[in-house]
Amino acid sequence: MLLRYPEKMAATNKQLLLAARPTGFPKPTDFRLVESPIPEPVEGQLLVGISYLSVDPYMRGRMNATRSYADPQKLDEVMGGGAVGRVLASHHPSFAEGEYVVGMFGWQQYALSDGAGVMKADPQVAPISTSLGVLGMPGLTAYFGLLDVCAPRAGDTVVVSGAAGAVGSTAGQIAKIHGCRVVGIAGSADKIRWITGELGFDAAFNYKTETRYFEKLKELCPAGIDCYFDNVGGAMTDAVFSLMNPNGRVAICGQIALYNLEKPDSGARLLPLVLVRTLTVKGFLVFQYASRYGEALPQLAKWHRKGRLKYRETVAEGTENAPSAFLGMLRGENIGKQLVSISNL
Ligand SMILES: NC(=O)c1ccc[n+]([C@@H]2O[C@H](COP(=O)([O-])OP(=O)(O)OC[C@H]3O[C@@H](n4cnc5c(N)ncnc54)[C@H](OP(=O)(O)O)[C@@H]3O)[C@@H](O)[C@H]2O)c1
Repeated sequence: MLLRYPEKMAATNKQLLLAARPTGFPKPTDFRLVESPIPEPVEGQLLVGISYLSVDPYMRGRMNATRSYADPQKLDEVMGGGAVGRVLASHHPSFAEGEYVVGMFGWQQYALSDGAGVMKADPQVAPISTSLGVLGMPGLTAYFGLLDVCAPRAGDTVVVSGAAGAVGSTAGQIAKIHGCRVVGIAGSADKIRWITGELGFDAAFNYKTETRYFEKLKELCPAGIDCYFDNVGGAMTDAVFSLMNPNGRVAICGQIALYNLEKPDSGARLLPLVLVRTLTVKGFLVFQYASRYGEALPQLAKWHRKGRLKYRETVAEGTENAPSAFLGMLRGENIGKQLVSISNL
C-alpha cells in the first residue's frame, strides 16, 4: 500500500469502544480502549489519519439502548462521531492522498471510508479543526436553528441557552449580526465574560450562581423575549417560556439538562402559554438541512473572515482522552467547541 506519511504513523490503531450503556451520568468505564492493526483500503475506499475528533452531546443519547432519531451506538463497537483528518491512501476517485476530509470516522486514530457523507476541509479557509465546530456541524446547527426556526428580526430580543458552547456561541453571534438584542445563559463566570466581552452578547448570566431564572431573565429582557434558541431544556426553558412575547419563536435545538437524568423530569405545563401567546415551537435536526449546507458554509466562513463570527476551542490531547473530554463537555468544562487532538499527520 502506498502511504504518503508512513514515518509519522503509529504502529497500531487506537480505538475507543462503547463498553457499557450508562445509567445517569456516564463513567470512564463505559468506554474501552483497544489497539488493532491499521486497516488497508481496498478499491473504492480511502484511509484517513485522524487529526481531531469531535465529542458531542448527541453521543450521550446514542449510548442508550433506545432509538431516538438515530440507532443506538452498538456495544463493543468504535464510538461513532465526526472527525477531520488527512487522506493517507486512496483508492477512491473523488479523494486524493494528502487532502483533508471530514466525516463520521469515529473515535479512533485511523479510519477506512467508502466516501459516503465525507466532505473536504480546506485549510486555506480556516484551521481544519473549525470543520468540526464553527464551520462544521455545530455552526450549521446554529445557522439553521436561528435563521430558519427562530427567524429573528432586527430589534428582537433573542435568548440563547448553552450560550458559551459550540452551537450557542455561534447562534448568539448570528443573532447579533442580524441586529438583535442577545441574552446568553451559561455555566461559569469565564463563559459569561467571553460571550459578553469578545462575542458581543448584550447581557448574560451564570445559571449556576444565579438560580432565580425568571427574575434574572425579566431584568435582562425588559421588552420580553421574541426568540429562544434552546440548547438545554428543563427549568431554564420553563422560565424563558413565561417571558415569551406574543408570536414568539422557539427553536428546540437540544435538551442537555435532561440527557443524564435517571428519572424523567416533570416541569411546568407550557402549552397554555404556547396557545395564548401564539408561539411557534419547533424542534429541528441539522441534517434535515443537508441540501442547504452549500448556502450556509460559505456564509459562516465569510462572517468568520470578516471577524464577525468568533470561536473558541477546548482541546484534549490523545485518543485515550476522548472519554474524559466527552464527560468534561457534559459537565460544562469546555468553552466553545470540545475537540480531541489525535495527530498532525
Ligand atoms: N438539533 C440538532 O441538530 C443539534 C445539533 C448539534 C447540537 N445540538 C444540541 O445543541 C446543544 C449544544 O451542543 P454543543 O455541541 O454546542 O455542545 P456545547 O454547548 O459545546 O457543550 C455542552 C454544554 O452544555 C452545557 N450543559 C451541560 N449540562 C447542562 C445542564 N444541566 N444545564 C444547562 N447546560 C448544561 C455545558 O455548558 P454550561 O457550563 O453552560 O453548563 C456544556 O459546555 C446540545 O443540547 C446538543 O444536543 C443539536
